Amino acid sequence: MSDLVVRELCKTYPNVRQDLVVLDHISLELNRGDNLAIIGPSGAGKSTLLQILGTLDQPTSGTVEVAGLNPFSLGEVEQARFRNQHIGFIFQDHHLLPQWNVLENALLPCLAFGRAKPDQIERAKQLLDRVGLSDRLTHLPSQLSGGERERVAVARALMLRPTMILADEPTGNLDSDNASIIGELLLEVPKEQDAMLIVVTHSMELAKRMNRCLELRRGKLTDHPRDDMA
Ligand SMILES: Nc1ncnc2c1ncn2[C@@H]1O[C@H](COP(=O)(O)OP(=O)(O)OP(=O)(O)O)[C@@H](O)[C@H]1O
Ligand SMILES: [Mg+2]
Repeated sequence: MSDLVVRELCKTYPNVRQDLVVLDHISLELNRGDNLAIIGPSGAGKSTLLQILGTLDQPTSGTVEVAGLNPFSLGEVEQARFRNQHIGFIFQDHHLLPQWNVLENALLPCLAFGRAKPDQIERAKQLLDRVGLSDRLTHLPSQLSGGERERVAVARALMLRPTMILADEPTGNLDSDNASIIGELLLEVPKEQDAMLIVVTHSMELAKRMNRCLELRRGKLTDHPRDDMA
């Protein structure tokens, strides 16, 4: 069985006249080491899908299995543990904690269930070095550029070697140089760690670099032909 199995996933929001169907029986499989881009118009439900895969939101129906586990069958504490262990989320607006410095932000996943161990601090430093921030460890997010903040978010997402990395518009706010650096990292590091990567993006340049590209439109996920990518 694949490391990620999504079956007949639906998400509907109640609406005054007619319910709003955002995800309409979506199925998807992905394995460790694979990467995938999801494109589609604004409002198509890309973030909604990513949030459900990351267990930050609940599906209306359908199932998600990561590494053979259905996170929605777990209790609250177990689900938080599952998220911590299996999911690395890179949000569009990075969600760094403003009062914590770069190193502390990268260590955040380790702090959810206790203190960071020395080897974890070492790993955070290595990852921050990998994203070119070794001389910014004690900077606060407010003392970083947008691209640097996004790179901290990448390091943080990789910290606990998650099974699946979910990135929502990771290059949305970046200039082309920084977008290219983040794109490079997103491709290389999950591969090194044998993780799955799903990237939601409006950038065809980034989408083109992934092994596979799917388009979300009117609730359905379909293969986006490579030839159509300008
Ligand atoms: N809590 C909610 N209640 C009702 N409708 C919602 C809710 N959250 C999202 N929606 C609707 O679901 C649709 C999908 O939203 P989503 O954020 O997933 O789109 P998206 O594809 O990520 O768009 P973008 O490219 O602009 O980020 C939108 O039309 C939005 O209005
Ligand atoms: Mg979105």
